[in-house]
Amino acid sequence: MNTDLSNRTCIITGANSGIGKATAIGLAKMGASIVMLCRDEQKGKNALKEIKDTTGNQSIELMIADLQDYDSIRLFAQNYKSTHDKLHILINNAGIMKKKRETNNIGHETTFATNYLGHFLLTNLLLETLQSSVPARIINISSGSHKRGKLDFDNLMLEQKYGRFKAYNNSKLANILFTYELARRLEDSGVTVNVVHPGAARTNFGREFSERTRKFLKLFKQFTVSAEEGAKTSIFLASSPEVENITGKYWIKCKQVKSSKNSYNTSIQKRLWNASKDLTSK
Ligand SMILES: NC(=O)c1ccc[n+]([C@@H]2O[C@H](COP(=O)([O-])OP(=O)(O)OC[C@H]3O[C@@H](n4cnc5c(N)ncnc54)[C@H](OP(=O)(O)O)[C@@H]3O)[C@@H](O)[C@H]2O)c1
Repeated sequence: MNTDLSNRTCIITGANSGIGKATAIGLAKMGASIVMLCRDEQKGKNALKEIKDTTGNQSIELMIADLQDYDSIRLFAQNYKSTHDKLHILINNAGIMKKKRETNNIGHETTFATNYLGHFLLTNLLLETLQSSVPARIINISSGSHKRGKLDFDNLMLEQKYGRFKAYNNSKLANILFTYELARRLEDSGVTVNVVHPGAARTNFGREFSERTRKFLKLFKQFTVSAEEGAKTSIFLASSPEVENITGKYWIKCKQVKSSKNSYNTSIQKRLWNASKDLTSK
C-alpha cells in the first residue's frame, strides 16, 4: 500500500542537499506539502525546482533561515506560524562539521549551534503548532559518531581544545539526549520524537574536508550508501503507520537500535535541556 501524505505538512531543514533533499523527494512523492528550510536562497530555489520537477508535487515551498542564527530561527517560526495552521512532520536534518572553530553572532561554536542548538530552538518554537496538529512526528538526525561524543558542561562551546570531530560528535550526542528528553516531555501528547543515524552516505557533507581526505574516503566507497538510501529511515519514520505511536527511540536502517549508554542518562538529558534553554534565549 502506498502511504498517502496529501493532508500532511512537513518542514525539512537542510532540504537543498544530500539526505535532506532525498527525504523531501521521498515525502513529496507521497503527496506531502513540504516547507524546505534552507540557508542559501539560490541553492534552495534550485532544489525546489528539482523536487517539483522530479515528483510533480507543486506543494513545495522554500523558507530561508540560518540555523546557527537564533534570531533567524525566531523569524522563520513566526513567518511559518503566520502562514500555516498545521505542522505534522518536523525533520531536523541540517548538519555541518567545521574544520576550524568558528562562532555565531553570540559566540556559540558553530557546529554545536547549527546541528543541535538551532534545532532545539526551532522545535520548541514549533511545538504548539505540532501539538495542535496531532498526530505529529519529530525526526532528529544524529549519527553513529554520537558514541564518541562527551559533553563537558563547562566547555560546551569547545573554547579549549577544539577538534572538528569532537564538536561534531558532541552535537550528534546532543541530538539524541534532546530526543529522549523531549519524548518524555511529550508522552501521550500525540507528538512522537525519534532519532536517526542515516548511515555513511555520499552527500555534500565532506565539503570542508581536504582533497587528500576526500580521496582517502573514496577508497571506502563500497561502505557508503547513496543519499536516497540514507534518507530511507527518515522517510519511514515520517510516513509509516507502523511507527505512529513509537517515540523516544534511536533508528538505523528502519530498525530500533540502542544508542550509547551515556545517551540514556536522564540527568545529562535534563541538564542539557536546561543549558540549551538558557543558551538559545540570548
Ligand atoms: N552523509 C553522511 O555520511 C552522514 C552520516 C551520519 C549523519 N549525517 C547527518 O545527516 C544530515 C544531513 O547531512 P548530509 O550528509 O545530507 O550533508 P549535506 O549534503 O552537506 O547537507 C547538509 C544540509 O544542511 C544545510 N545546512 C548546513 N548549515 C546550515 C545552517 N546554518 N542553516 C541551515 N541549513 C544548514 C546545508 O545547506 P548548504 O547546502 O547551504 O550548506 C545542506 O542543505 C546531517 O545532520 C549530518 O550530520 C550524515
